[in-house]
Amino acid sequence: MNQILNTALLDEFDRDNVPKHGLPGTAYVSDTFKQLEDEYLFAKSWTFSGFAHQISKVGDVHPLTIAGQPIFLIRSENNEIKAFHNVCRHRNLQLVAKTSNCGRMLRCPYHSWSYDLDGNLKNTPFFGGEAKQLCEGFNLKENGLLPIDCEVWHDWIFINFDSNAGPIEDFLKPLKTMMGDNDVTQYQPVAMIEFGEVACNWKLLMENFIEPYHVQFVHKTTTSQPLEDHYAVVEGNCLGSAVDLSEEQVANAGEGTLGVTSQYLTLFPNFVMGTYQPDQLGVHLNIPMNAGTTRQFRVIYIHKNSKYSAQQIQDLKNLWHSVHLEDHEMGERLQIGRQSHLAASGGVLSPYWEISVRKFQELVANAIRPGLIK
Ligand SMILES: [Fe+2]
Repeated sequence: MNQILNTALLDEFDRDNVPKHGLPGTAYVSDTFKQLEDEYLFAKSWTFSGFAHQISKVGDVHPLTIAGQPIFLIRSENNEIKAFHNVCRHRNLQLVAKTSNCGRMLRCPYHSWSYDLDGNLKNTPFFGGEAKQLCEGFNLKENGLLPIDCEVWHDWIFINFDSNAGPIEDFLKPLKTMMGDNDVTQYQPVAMIEFGEVACNWKLLMENFIEPYHVQFVHKTTTSQPLEDHYAVVEGNCLGSAVDLSEEQVANAGEGTLGVTSQYLTLFPNFVMGTYQPDQLGVHLNIPMNAGTTRQFRVIYIHKNSKYSAQQIQDLKNLWHSVHLEDHEMGERLQIGRQSHLAASGGVLSPYWEISVRKFQELVANAIRPGLIK
């Protein structure tokens, strides 16, 4: 859908009514809206991009698309994780095509330009002529790979295209505050679930995670967490919900279901962390591919003092796989519903259970507003 989006798009969303309306369907189905998000939201904030344990060895590279731009993550010579634009400086070919190890050099397959693991351009064979790699007006130093700001918090890699976006510590602070004395750096990854492409807009997966209202209906066979024990969390850029259960409730939870005190927290725009007492974490990576498609991954973490057998880990993977598929069905049907003209008014949001969803949508709306035509 190619269209011009003007400020009237958000009129209903901005109206001071009760209950509040959600974002209009266009915000979920329009590629133009997705382009606004790429330019005004993802290119201007810390964006969750990957897991450090996925690139554990020097020379490991991992390509992905963030804010509509091809980038790659790499573990460099001195064991640091870095991010670069995934583009050869010669003819702008995509340099890294798949997750792999490139050894000590990254070589462009087109004309064999090569870069070291810190992005420095080292070789440009024959560029200046038959036996010359240089020519007038061209030097290696000024033509290295272009870096992108990159920070790692425990296993989680965040990148930022905008050097004015502020320190990562400020960005992480509200989530760290919510975690209290639960030290997430003590948890180790034990499994990754790759869901591939989910046929819905990235916002629907985020919104679904931060509201507890659906849990009793969508997850009635996979969870034992009553609605009345939940509460919404709106703490700066940390949005989500939490549920506190008594020892008795935990003891009486259905077998094989999730029935523990939990927090479902996010950092806007796309970092997702679930905590499950006493010893489990889950982190989702949602990567928007286009308006109607999101790639999703989940990594399961266990506290380093806990011992889980291979079977217990497999059981956890099976449980989380089922829970996510239940959510995906809702996300995909929400996406279809947004193609209806009826979705122009954005539906309505619960003033009690969906305040985190509303706040999430306000952050999206406010980010893209400068790109709307007046
Ligand atoms: Fe859910």
